Amino acid sequence: MNQVELFENERAAGYNQFVETWIPNYHYFLDCLPKILSGIDTKDLLVVGCGTGNEIEKFIKTPERWTITGIDPSPEMIKQAKDKLQTCENVRLIEGVVADLDIKKKYNVATLLLVLHFLEDNGSKLNLLKDIAERLVSGATFIMLDITGDKKQIQQNLIILEQLIPEGLDEEQVNNRLKRIEHELFAVSEERLSALLEEAGFETPVRFFQSSIYMGWLTKKK
Ligand SMILES: C[S@@+](CC[C@H](N)C(=O)[O-])C[C@H]1O[C@@H](n2cnc3c(N)ncnc32)[C@H](O)[C@@H]1O
Repeated sequence: MNQVELFENERAAGYNQFVETWIPNYHYFLDCLPKILSGIDTKDLLVVGCGTGNEIEKFIKTPERWTITGIDPSPEMIKQAKDKLQTCENVRLIEGVVADLDIKKKYNVATLLLVLHFLEDNGSKLNLLKDIAERLVSGATFIMLDITGDKKQIQQNLIILEQLIPEGLDEEQVNNRLKRIEHELFAVSEERLSALLEEAGFETPVRFFQSSIYMGWLTKKK
C-alpha cells in the first residue's frame, strides 16, 4: 500500500498562497528547473505529486516542447492543475500514485517536489523512490525539493525560516506551523536521503539549492 498525504478543503484551496508564504525562493527554484534540464534530448517528463501544477506551468512556458505527465493522489489538487492546464495538449494529468502508472512506459526526467517529507521513513519513502526509478530510463535525471536535515539542522534552519517569512502573520499560526514542521513531518538527514536514493536505484545526489529547511537535489537513475 502506498502512503499518501491528501490535500483537501482549505489546504488545497489555499495551497498557492501557502507556498508563497512558507517556501522562500520557491518560484526561483521552479524557474531553475527548465534551465537545468534544457540539455536533455528527449523531453519526456514525469511530475510526481504535481499538486496544482506549479512546476508544470514553468515547463510549458519555455520555448522547448516538453511532453509532461503529472500525477497526484489528491482530487482537489489535481483538479486545480487540470483547470489551469486543460488547454495544453502535451500535458497529461492523472489522479493517482506512481504505482498506478504503466511500468512499460519509461520517462527521461522526473521531479518530486515537496512530497517526500510527508512520507514516513518506514519503507514508504523508499517505495515511492523505487516506483519512480522503475519508470525512468537508465541515466534519466531526477530532481527533488524536500525538507532535509538532521534534527539540529532542521531546528537551526527553522529559525532562519521564521526570519524569512512575510511579516504580520498570526503569531500562533506561525508557531503551530513551525512545530508541525519539526515534530510532525518526516524530514531525513542528507546522508539518509542519499542512502534512500541509492537503494532505490539512483546515483549519489548533489544538493544544488537550499532555502532554509528546503533543499533541492539532483541525481540520475543508475
Ligand atoms: C506540498 S504539495 C506539492 C505540490 C507541487 N509538487 C509543488 O511543488 O507545488 C504535495 C503534493 O504531494 C501529493 N502527494 C501526497 N502523497 C503522495 C504520494 N505518495 N505520491 C505522490 N504524490 C503525493 C499531495 O497530494 C500534494 O498535492
